[in-house]
Amino acid sequence: MSTAAKRANARPGREWLDNPAGLGELMPAGFTMGVATSAFQVEGGILDGGREPSTWDTFMAQPGRIADGSDASVSTDHLHRYSEDVKLMRELGVDSYRFSLGWSRLQPGGRGGANRAAVAFYDRLLDELLTNGIRPMATLFHWDTPEALQHTGGWMKRDTAYRFADYAFLAGEAFGDRIDSWVTINEPATVTLNGYALGVHAPGATLLFDSLPAAHHQLLGHGLAVEALRAASVTGGIGIANVHSPVQPEGDGEDDALFTELFDIVHNRVYADPVLLGRYPEVPEQLDHLFAAFREIDPADLRVISAPLDFYGLNYYAPSRVAAGAPTDAATADGRSPVVRQLPFSLRAWPEYPVTGFGWPIAPDFLTVALRELADRYGDALPPVIITEGGASFPDVVERDGSIDDEARVLYLAEHLAAAFAGAPGVRLAGYYVWSLLDNWEWAAGFNQRFGLVHVNFETQDRTPKRSFTWMQRVIGGRTA
Ligand code: FCB
Repeated sequence: MSTAAKRANARPGREWLDNPAGLGELMPAGFTMGVATSAFQVEGGILDGGREPSTWDTFMAQPGRIADGSDASVSTDHLHRYSEDVKLMRELGVDSYRFSLGWSRLQPGGRGGANRAAVAFYDRLLDELLTNGIRPMATLFHWDTPEALQHTGGWMKRDTAYRFADYAFLAGEAFGDRIDSWVTINEPATVTLNGYALGVHAPGATLLFDSLPAAHHQLLGHGLAVEALRAASVTGGIGIANVHSPVQPEGDGEDDALFTELFDIVHNRVYADPVLLGRYPEVPEQLDHLFAAFREIDPADLRVISAPLDFYGLNYYAPSRVAAGAPTDAATADGRSPVVRQLPFSLRAWPEYPVTGFGWPIAPDFLTVALRELADRYGDALPPVIITEGGASFPDVVERDGSIDDEARVLYLAEHLAAAFAGAPGVRLAGYYVWSLLDNWEWAAGFNQRFGLVHVNFETQDRTPKRSFTWMQRVIGGRTA
């Protein structure tokens, strides 16, 4: 037996492979099980019905940006196949569907009134969900900034936060009576780091630490959107979805410890502290020069950013390991970035864990660490937490009979759901959304990374539930509370 197979045999999740209902029995009462997608990754129809380009439309058209040279112009064609997809969700038995409203579809160009064709599409989707007993969770911004706003500086400019608030109000007015929960912004950390600091995501800027205004403006946009949704009298709860990656130093030295703290700040704390505590994190003196952008911030902004939330969304995929010293090559998890070599630290591997198709360590114990860190850092300021994303890509194989036996994904989900159901002291954990319902267009990785419970043949658009889908069905069916 190979080492990988031996390791997989020893994993605690194995006990749930053949006993999904037993895992379902551990689900706490009232826990929401959901699946997640985002507009740009699944909708297709990128120029249909008056939609205008987003920064991702521009980015994916540039040579060399997307690993397999693909684009999202059709993707899974969810725009036309949403009722088939909702049917799949109903069969799966989930309580909720997290999707995003395409900013560039709903408010083309990022200004002015709502696009009627887009309102009609999201109306149909919402009706279909509600008819099937599935509660809608809508993300307002899952990375598709209108390109017209990028021409005036995008998230580097404060005005984009106000444009976003206008769009939030418009969405609140159109759908506020039917959406069960609202996520303002998805992973502002990834937009800043991948999009503005390293240039491996749209808009492809390589500003390193000078990208921090993009963080502040997204957070301000979040706070203003909370105000706008409340002004539109939406009936659903409101939160944000932040990606957290617990960080560990590679070695015992002081330098590794310092840069571990730096990574924790730029990846986790910059986005969580202002929202939950109303202030930016304290920075070690030696690193203070990197954070000039936060020195002059008006306290009034922080009051807006820290408006109380109904829930805190946690996207958890993997921990990070940090060592002092610049990376020796330009590789990052999301593509090549020559500027990465100017950083004073690098991210290291976790050889003790198996990895996903993306090479991310499969470390469910760090989901528990992420929850504990939230409780420790934010205490009473932490609202109920919902895991708004978790899942894994693997190179799935379609068998001759058409079936997909994605045992690796089942194991991943078994371990992460077990950790989620067990929770952590001080955290009111209210739900878990699997990323993703469907295989879809995975940003700079194109169609190379499949995350779905449902396989999508991108030529024919045929949907085939994988083993993980039937397994999840039985987990959900097993719940007793
Ligand atoms: C998250 C994104 C989501 C998807 C998953 C794999 O960072 O929010 O759109 O790309 O990663």
